Amino acid sequence: MTNYSTYVDWRRTFHQYPELSDEEYETTEMLRKILKSYGIRILDVPLKTGLVAEIGQGEEMIAVRTDIDALPIEEHVKHEFTSTHQGVMHACGHDIHMASILATGTQLKEIEDELNGRVRLIFQPAEELGHGAFEIINTGVLKGAKAVLGFHNYPTLKVGEFAIKSGAITSAVDRFEFNIKGAHAAKPEQGNDPVIVVGQLINSLQTIVSRNLSAFDSAVVTIGEISCGNTWNVIADKAYIQGTVRSFDEDKRHYIENRMKNIADGLSRVFNVDIDLTYSRLPGAVVNDTHLTQEAIEVAKNVGYHVSMLDEPVTIGEDFSGYTEEYPGVFAFIGSDSKYDLHHPKYHPDERILEKVPQYFVQLVQRLLT
Ligand code: NI
Repeated sequence: MTNYSTYVDWRRTFHQYPELSDEEYETTEMLRKILKSYGIRILDVPLKTGLVAEIGQGEEMIAVRTDIDALPIEEHVKHEFTSTHQGVMHACGHDIHMASILATGTQLKEIEDELNGRVRLIFQPAEELGHGAFEIINTGVLKGAKAVLGFHNYPTLKVGEFAIKSGAITSAVDRFEFNIKGAHAAKPEQGNDPVIVVGQLINSLQTIVSRNLSAFDSAVVTIGEISCGNTWNVIADKAYIQGTVRSFDEDKRHYIENRMKNIADGLSRVFNVDIDLTYSRLPGAVVNDTHLTQEAIEVAKNVGYHVSMLDEPVTIGEDFSGYTEEYPGVFAFIGSDSKYDLHHPKYHPDERILEKVPQYFVQLVQRLLT
């Protein structure tokens, strides 16, 4: 029989020994030890870090996922379990996620004989780099999954609060980089000035959302960095612009990417310069299945959560999108009440979040497996 104080101990241990994405070796070992000590079987899955465990028997299978990686951030919170790994911190609360899913696993293990199917616990590496979900999917371990369930702790919600929506709940996060090659320094007539092109590019990029998307669609195009030239009397020979696009469905995402390519081609011809665009597609939008969202809301209310419906997706990226692209899934935000935000060196979630999260997943799994 496990209980809240055990979950807190697990979380604090993970917090004390955080590891970066793709380097979660100790974390994987800790998870393995705990799962084994409860007699939970661990599947033989070819993963460098992270692991997959299974409870139950039968045809149907549901997956419950936690991420396991930490961030390259120096912790600025003093407590008895402050990170002992310099410059690395569980500042996104994945320690909370791991403890919650371990707790879910141990509770499900106690009722294993009553389960009408199998539950796969996915301990996923490298969420922060946006590729861990795809590593898991590529192993084939989710094949046939009836549902994939997940959550993220959410600092602006109080403990006991639960927020969700059907459809897109997070945004697709993409990165764009423009490299513009100009010409010879003191003789503008022999080549072209990348500074002028930068000016045009800024204006053109800003028309994508304002002029090319319908008033009923939304997206964000943000330029985060411009570098160009380094003194007053020399024409710059190159320029660099990078930024991010946040979008909420695949059509718009493709459209924006194509529009950027066209703008780059057009300006390159108009100004006779080389413009090279690198568009990197990072995680897509997490899209919640409508039916599963309804089930999740029912269960969250049963467990005693105060449930609120999000009006729109949050503009954070989450590689859980990899799962919802392939399988029906549902992802919720659950209150962890921290004064400082996710990815902040003073991020300090309220551990009482660990009381209800396991109950939510246990009941949701039971409900979906009948
Ligand atoms: Ni996170």
